[in-house]
Parts: sequence; structure tokens; C-alpha cells
Amino acid sequence: MTGKPVEKPGDAAPIGVVGAGWVGLVTAACFAELGHSVVARDVVQEKVDALNRGEVTIHEPGLAELLSSNADRLEFTTDMDRLLDHARLLFVCVDTPPTHSGDADLSRVRAVVDELAGSPDHVLVMKSTVPAGTGETIMAELPGSGYVSCPEFLKEGSAVEDFMHPDRVVIGVAPGREADGDAVAELYAPLGGEMVRTDVTSAEMVKLASNAYLATRISFINEIANVCEEVGADVSEVARGMGLDDRIGPQFLRPGIGFGGSCFPKDVSALKLLAGNSGYHFQLLNAVIEVNELQKRRVVGKLVEHIGPLAGKRIALLGLAFKPDTDDMREASSLVLSARLAAEGAEVVAFDPVAMDAARELLPGVEMARSALEALEGADGAVLVTEWPEFRELDWTGAAGVMNRPLLIDGRNYLDPDELAAAGFTWDGVGRAEVRPD
Ligand code: UGA
Repeated sequence: MTGKPVEKPGDAAPIGVVGAGWVGLVTAACFAELGHSVVARDVVQEKVDALNRGEVTIHEPGLAELLSSNADRLEFTTDMDRLLDHARLLFVCVDTPPTHSGDADLSRVRAVVDELAGSPDHVLVMKSTVPAGTGETIMAELPGSGYVSCPEFLKEGSAVEDFMHPDRVVIGVAPGREADGDAVAELYAPLGGEMVRTDVTSAEMVKLASNAYLATRISFINEIANVCEEVGADVSEVARGMGLDDRIGPQFLRPGIGFGGSCFPKDVSALKLLAGNSGYHFQLLNAVIEVNELQKRRVVGKLVEHIGPLAGKRIALLGLAFKPDTDDMREASSLVLSARLAAEGAEVVAFDPVAMDAARELLPGVEMARSALEALEGADGAVLVTEWPEFRELDWTGAAGVMNRPLLIDGRNYLDPDELAAAGFTWDGVGRAEVRPD
């Protein structure tokens, strides 16, 4: 653990977690680390067995350590009754993936609500991202039970750190149920984030609006980067100059080949549809989505500019995961990019330090290399898709030697262009001038 130490509370509380996926596991492990006794329930027996044997099913820095050092305060089960016996507060951490229409699929949330019917002593604490209005519907279906909307703001790759040091904790309750909110607030109090106490629907909106706003910033800076390319400005300088304005701030102004992951694409589309279904046309979000789609495709145009038609050319992708420090391939830009490259007739070879297993099934036409250097061997061009630190450490002079054409399209502006040029590369990033070999 880095950052400020977290004060452990005096009173340990029994906590229930529903869903041992990424959010559920981080929540369970972190509450156990704070001294609470946690029972987490998942419907997948093999996952529960593996977790009880101490095997961690996802790649998240610090999580395996916390699960193992707090094993005596953690139990995994498939049995809902065991959970209901153990704790009054039940943190619901099931996923709400997008349906084909782009709406959130609430079937897993619904299943939990069905299981809780008739348990008026319990308080359901909703961590899952749900459309605004969902809590009101659930509360009407579970009269007597407690309901707290407490959205999660964890980032993959730094979720444990984010949990332990939240910027804010949002707690939404119905009028008259403030005590339920107090119980949740008490659990988060040692972590020091600002508490935002509000109503349930506003809490749900905070989550959707936050993700949609961050996604909007990314699409915005991506468009600024594209304009920088046209007018000869450097987007890194522009973003730095913008970010120093306190009203703007420096975060989420990194241009690239689009945002991905399980949250931004889903939540932007869910908010757009929620607005539409409520009778409001959320115009801005259409552009956010469209810019993001186009941004993933621009790389193909850049490759063509450098090496001509891609048919028969060998293109190496460095990184496949939607961002570093995760093996998550959901909505990763690499999916669209490799499909586009294949459609142009290119031969695609890839390497990712962690996501190869997750990617193999999704990208059957892509040759998987055992190392970055192996991926670059004989390639006519390479695209850095995910900013994994080990790519900075690569022997780029050696890499230039094994490539057919030492060309690096840096989709994250991650590598030092001058270093690459000194190694013999043509470097071309996003919103910055290209640099040719010395
Ligand atoms: C995001 C939010 O940041 C979390 O606060 C939220 O809890 C989470 O969604 C969720 O709803 O569960 P996450 O998807 O894990 O977290 O990842 P981010 O670090 O936010 O990155 C999302 C995508 O945006 C990545 O593809 C990343 O490469 C891209 N990005 C991010 C940029 O292109 N530029 C930036 O400046 C920042």
C-alpha cells in the first residue's frame, strides 16, 4: 500500500458483499483490511472455491496481498442465507453490462432483489452502476428493507488504492432512512473522503454524470489533439497549459486512441439512453461516442500515410488491454483496431504483458507473440496501444534492427520521441509532430 496510512476503526462490523467480481473482491478485501468480518457471495461455485483456496481470479495490483493477509476475516460462499445470517449491510457489487440496445442489463441486480424479498432487516447498499431511478423502483419492491445508493468510483489498476483513499463517498438514502446512510458512512469514515449525503436518485446520477464527464474530457482532448495535428501545435503542451488552470485541472487530458473498459463506453451510452427514455435528447454524448469511435480508426489512416496500403503488411500491436495494470479487454481499442487492420488486409501480431490469455479468444485472427521484440520482428509498423511501463524499457535500437520498417505509431504518446528517433525509429503520436530518425 502506498499513500496515507488508513486508520482502522475501533468496532469491526459484519459486512456482506454480493458478487465477487472486480468491485466485489476489492470491496471485500478492503473492508477486511479495515478490520471488518466479510462474507462475500457469488453464484459461480468454481470462483468461490478458488477464492476460498486463496486463488485470485483477476489482475488488480495489491488485491492478492490483501486477500491473503486478511484471509481470517474473509469468507466466500454461494449461499445467500449464509450472507443474510452474517450481515445486515449487504454491498451489492454485481455487474450491469450493456445490453444490445446499450441500456444497462439489470438482470443480476434484479436477481439479488428477488432473493432479498422478505428480508426486511437488511440494508441493500448498491455499489453497482445502475440507471438513475433504479433505486426508487427497488425500494418500492422491497418495502421495509433499507436501501443506500453508494456508487463506486474505483479505477481498474488502482482500485485498492482508490478504495483506501477516496476523493469522496456518495451516500444516497430515502427520506427517513438516514440511519442506514449513517451506518455506511461510518464504515467509510476512516478513509477520509468527503461525504456527499443526498437522495438515492441524485447519488445514482453522480456516478453516471462523473463517468460521462470524464469520457467527455477524453473525447474533447482527442479532438484538440486532432486539431493540433492540423495546425502544427503540440497537444502535450496544450494540455499542460490548460490543466494548470485550477478550474480545469490536469487529469484526464491525455489524448490517445480512445477510451475503453467496462465503464466509460457503457455508462456514456446508458446515460444517453436514460435521458432519451426520459424525454431528453442528450446531444453532447452522441459526439463523445462518435469521436471515440473515430479516434480508434485514425491510427489506420496514419499507418497508411507512412507505409501505403496495408494489404500484406505486418503490423505489430504493443499492448491489448484497455489500459495498463489490468488484463481487462472489455471495449479495448485494440479490438476495433485489429479488426480494422485485418479488414485492410494487414497481418496483425500482438503482445501484451498481462492480457494475452484474455485476448486470445477475442482476437482469433491475431498472432500472439511471446515478447514485444518477437512481435516487432519483421513488422512494417508498430502501434503502441496500451502504455505498459515495460515498453519504455524495451531495447528500441534492437527493435529497430529486427523490424522491416522501424515505424512506431504511439497511440498513447507514451514513449520519448527523441529516444525513439535516436534508436532509428520514425515516431508518430497523437496531436504531436512526428519525429524521424536522427
Ligand atoms: C473509470 C473511472 O475512472 C472510475 O472512477 C469509475 O469507478 C470506473 O470507470 C467505473 O465506473 O467502474 P476505469 O474504466 O477503470 O475507471 O479506467 P480509467 O482509468 O478511468 O480509464 C478509462 C479509459 O480512458 C481507458 O481506456 C484510458 O486509456 C482512457 N483515458 C483515460 C484516456 O484516453 N485519457 C485519459 O486522460 C484518461
